[in-house]
Amino acid sequence: MKKLILLFLISLISCQPAVKGVSEKKDKNTGLIANKAMVVSAREEASRIGLSILRKGGNAFDAMIATEMALAVAYPFAGNLGGGGFMVYRKADGSTGSLDYREKAPLAASKRMYQDAEGNVISEKSKIGGLAVGVPGTVAGIFAVHEKFGSLPMPEILKPVIALAKRGFVVTEHQAENLQKYRELFLKVNNDSILFSKAYMAGDTIHNLELANTLQQIAENGRKEFYNGSIGRELVNYLQAHGGIMTMEDLAEYRAQWRDPISVKYKDLKLISMPPPSSGGIVLGQILKMVEPFPLKEFGHNSEKTIQVLTEAERRAYADRSYYLGDPDFVNIPTDTLLSDSYLKNRMDKFSFTKATPSSEVEHGEIAGYESMETTHYSIVDQYGNAIAATTTLNGAYGSKLFVPELGFFLNNEMDDFSAKPGFPNMFGLIGAEANSIAPGKKMLSSMTPTIVEKNDKLWMVLGSPGGSTIITSVLQTILNVKEFGVTMQEAVDAPRFHHQWLPDEILFEPEGFDEKLLNSLQEKGYNINVGESTVIGKVDAILVLPDGRMEGGADRRGDDTAVGF
Ligand code: GLY
Repeated sequence: MKKLILLFLISLISCQPAVKGVSEKKDKNTGLIANKAMVVSAREEASRIGLSILRKGGNAFDAMIATEMALAVAYPFAGNLGGGGFMVYRKADGSTGSLDYREKAPLAASKRMYQDAEGNVISEKSKIGGLAVGVPGTVAGIFAVHEKFGSLPMPEILKPVIALAKRGFVVTEHQAENLQKYRELFLKVNNDSILFSKAYMAGDTIHNLELANTLQQIAENGRKEFYNGSIGRELVNYLQAHGGIMTMEDLAEYRAQWRDPISVKYKDLKLISMPPPSSGGIVLGQILKMVEPFPLKEFGHNSEKTIQVLTEAERRAYADRSYYLGDPDFVNIPTDTLLSDSYLKNRMDKFSFTKATPSSEVEHGEIAGYESMETTHYSIVDQYGNAIAATTTLNGAYGSKLFVPELGFFLNNEMDDFSAKPGFPNMFGLIGAEANSIAPGKKMLSSMTPTIVEKNDKLWMVLGSPGGSTIITSVLQTILNVKEFGVTMQEAVDAPRFHHQWLPDEILFEPEGFDEKLLNSLQEKGYNINVGESTVIGKVDAILVLPDGRMEGGADRRGDDTAVGF
C-alpha cells in the first residue's frame, strides 16, 4: 500500500509543469525543430524571407540583411529604415563580434534641447515629431554587414523584400489593434493622412509601393543613396518641414561601428553580448555574475527566493547603468570593474532573504511608468554554423510617428533614450546621469541585448528581445530558464516574467503565473509589487542548439513571432 501511495505521489509531481503558467501538459512544449538552419523573428514573412536567402546558399549575414529589411516592410511598428540597432555574431570558426548601427544625435542637438527656460523637461518633444528623431543607422548597418561578411549580391538579397512590399503583407489582429491605437497621432504628427492612418482590419493587405521603390534604389545604388543621395534629401526635407534639426551633413557623417562584444562567464556558459552604447551586455553580465553563487535550481523557477535574488541583482545593476553607462566614444566606462567578481560580490553584500533593500539605499531618483514592446529582435543560425542575434528599433511604437510618405517608412524617436535632464525618467522610466546626457553626434544609451551563448565553447543559444528597459531582464530569465530550470526553448520564452530596474522601486509582474500567496509574502518583506493587468514583459525570439546538433526555435507566444527552418 505504502508503495502505491509513493508511486501516486511521484506521478503527481512528474505531472507538474517544469515552468508554472506555461505548459500544463505532460509533454514538454517544444518549439520548431530544424536540422540545419533557422530564422526566428516577429513576423512570419520576415522569417520566411530570411530562410529563403539561406536556401539560396546565402549565409546568416545575408539572411540578417533580408530579415531586417523584411521587418521594415511587414512590421513597421519596430522594423525600420528610419531607426537603428545592434547585431552580435558568432561565426562557425568561433570568432565573435558586434555591430553598432545605433542612431545618434544630430549635430545641432544640445544638452537642454528638451527643457524650457526654467529647466522643466517638455517630455513630448523627445518622443513625438521631428525633434525626437536621431540620425538613422539601419541602412549603414546592413551595408557594413554586407561589406564584411555578405556572400550574395545586395540586389539578390533585397529582391524578395521588394516583392513583399509590392505584393503587400496581411494585417494581423495585433497589428490592427496597434494601428488603430496610433491612428490619431499619425494624423496629428504628419499633419496629413499617411499609408498607415487608414482604418485597417485584421486580414487587410497593406502594399507599400513607396518603400518598394526606396529599397529598389538602395539595391541599385548602395548606401550612398540613403546617406548622400536623393533618399537622404527627401528624408531631411520632410523632417525639417516637421520641426526636425537633422541635415545632410548628419547623414553624410553617419558610420556603423564594429565593436568588441562583452564576454561574460556564467558557470559553463559564455555569453557574448552587446557593449555600449547599449547597456545590455554589461547589465546582463553584472546580474548573472551577482546571482551565480545562489542555487537557483534548488530555489525553483519563479519561487520567492529566486525572485528575490534576481530582483536584488537587477536593482543594483540598473543603478550602475544609470550612473556609469553612455556612448563609449564620449564617456569613459569602467567596464572591467563593473564586471569584476570582487566589485559584484561587494554589491550584493547587503542582500538578505528576510528584507528587501530599498532602492533609495542603493541610489536616489524619481520615476514615471513603463511603455513596452517596441523594438524587435530576430535570431538566425545558418547551415554553415554561423549565428547572428540582431535587435533593431524605432524606439517607441512607430517611433516619432513621422512617416516620410515618398519613402514609405517611419522615423525613430530614439532621442528619448538620452537623459533629457539628470534624474528625469524617459519613456521606460529609466533615469540617467551625465554619462547619457545629450551632445552633438553622441549615441543615446540603449538596453538592447542581442546575445549569443556558448556552452563548452560550442554555440548553444541565440536570443534577444524588444521591451525597452525590460529587454535585459527578459534575456536573463530566458537563459536561466533553460540553464537552471531545464525547460525547452519554447517554454523558456513563454514563461511568465518579472522585472526590476532599480527605479521605480517595484517588481513588475506579468499577470499570469505568480500566485497571490507569493506576491503577499514578497510584499511583507518590503517589496513593492506591480502586477499589470495587460503587462507584457519582453518578446523573446531565440534558437537553442540541442545536444544532437539540431536546433529548437523559441518564438514568443506574446506576439505574431514565427520560427522557420530546414
Ligand atoms: N530604444 C530602446 C533601447 O534602445 O533600449
